[in-house]
Amino acid sequence: MMLNMDRSQRLVIDTDAMEWQPSPAAGVNRKPLEREAAESGQVTSVVEYLPGSQFASHLHPMGEEIMVLDGVFEDENGRYPAGTYLRNPPGSQHAPASREGCRLLVKLNMFQSQDQAPVRIDTAQQGWLPGLVDGLSVMPLHQFAQDGFSEQVALVRWQPGTRFNPHSHFGGEEIFVLEGRFEDEFGAYPAGTWIRNPDNSRHQPFSEQGCLILVKTGHLARLQGVYQTCQPS
Ligand SMILES: [Fe+2]
Ligand SMILES: [Fe+2]
Repeated sequence: MMLNMDRSQRLVIDTDAMEWQPSPAAGVNRKPLEREAAESGQVTSVVEYLPGSQFASHLHPMGEEIMVLDGVFEDENGRYPAGTYLRNPPGSQHAPASREGCRLLVKLNMFQSQDQAPVRIDTAQQGWLPGLVDGLSVMPLHQFAQDGFSEQVALVRWQPGTRFNPHSHFGGEEIFVLEGRFEDEFGAYPAGTWIRNPDNSRHQPFSEQGCLILVKTGHLARLQGVYQTCQPS
């Protein structure tokens, strides 16, 4: 049942080309990108709720991070339209559903233990900051540091023709392409592509046609370590 858990390996997955797999709830389907076990532990997946579907109330022992890709996601705390970024901290619980139907990027059980802040950001209502090079804008969504490890999450918008500097990823980098096409010297990644660049990997990204990406950095070294200590001997 373990899938893609060696985080020292680079991964590029075109999620639009994957088949949906059923979940334990009727009308809720998913595409697993990485997972520790069938229904527990660390999981990254694209999830769809068909209109009118719901998932049983459940606990997130080590947190849940969600980007609403389209439609409207909801739970007992609110309704979250496309573009909402959510963090449900370790120990939180909810019963999610979707009247209209929705698609989500979901990461489960990867929080640091003290990262307890609930986050609800409607990115359509939030301002952008200038990025490090012309043509780049950044919307910080979350950052947290504990025990020498830190993670950062942001939306990054690339105007057509933007080129970034060559750089290394201390702690790795994870990207989900939301719109347009993201590129680097290793390939071109259309909307729906999930990329996992390992700790200390290096690249020089650009975008000829422009794109919007969700970027998470710094977390992979720690997760790799956690995973290795959990390996059965
Ligand atoms: Fe959940
Ligand atoms: Fe990068």
